[in-house]
Amino acid sequence: MLETVETLMTNMVASLGDARSVELFKKVPKGKRLRAKLILKIAGASPEALKLAAIVELIHAASLLHDDVIDEANTRRGQLSINAEYGDKTAIMLGDILYSKGFSELTALPHEVAFSISNAVALLSVGELLDVELSASFNANLETYFDMIYKKTASLIEASAKSAALLAGKDSKIYALYGCNLGLAFQIIDDVLDITQSSETLGKPSLNDFKEGKTTLPYLYMYQSLNKSEQEQLLSLFQKTLDTEQTAWIKEKMHSTNAITKSIEYAKKLGFEALEAIAGEEDVGLSSIIKEMIERKF
Ligand code: FPP
Ligand code: MG
Repeated sequence: MLETVETLMTNMVASLGDARSVELFKKVPKGKRLRAKLILKIAGASPEALKLAAIVELIHAASLLHDDVIDEANTRRGQLSINAEYGDKTAIMLGDILYSKGFSELTALPHEVAFSISNAVALLSVGELLDVELSASFNANLETYFDMIYKKTASLIEASAKSAALLAGKDSKIYALYGCNLGLAFQIIDDVLDITQSSETLGKPSLNDFKEGKTTLPYLYMYQSLNKSEQEQLLSLFQKTLDTEQTAWIKEKMHSTNAITKSIEYAKKLGFEALEAIAGEEDVGLSSIIKEMIERKF
């Protein structure tokens, strides 16, 4: 089923009749296709669901092309990012091509689906702006962090689950709740992996979030548990390129304050709430999506 989604995505780009776009699109790493899997599990592999899955993955790929320009990231999934290999202008325009093609295909789907996805992309962009602005200084506010990750990551996953339910004639509200909690948990696990995994496993530099100015949930929990002088030490490392000793200090404090464990526990709690939302529904394998997402290593 996922191969059909890949073919549809390629065909959508090819339908623009521009060989360079097709060539560049082939260089974009495929990723986990979490959103496509979610849509196909909820809605089944109907032609409309397959199309929706391809559209959402095109839009998601576009958002990462732009995100890598914004974050000045040189790698994505273990390979050179498009901006690093072809420059920012090409990465931005390829992103524009992918998301606007996604939008034009979206007009052929039911109005409620088109609204839900396009509205989520607006939220995604607001979330990315918030992420950029929050990165200017250390953010010690949990509520602000959750608002940002809801918009930046969970909103499109929520809209994907909701839209799939709409296509399949299922209760869209409960699938939206499942998607929202899955999306929040997904971003928290991403934030944990940045600290616990090696660069090789991640396919991008590890311990990069803090250097980029991102105060993610483990840093927030850690900060809350440190004494005054340790808090000052942590703040002094914000946005810095860390040496071996500083890296070891952060990792040790992450563990001794239970910041990593607490973050994983919170992600698990959200995963549990996601499953509770759809407890009365037919089992289409949505629990395995949660389990794989929590247990992943990259
Ligand atoms: C990755 O965050 C970024 C996102 C999930 C969303 C990015 C959204 C935009 C750039 C808005 C524009 C949208 C479109 C459709 C062009 P991250 O930097 O925390 O994750 P990473 O470590 O994987 O880079
Ligand atoms: Mg990024």
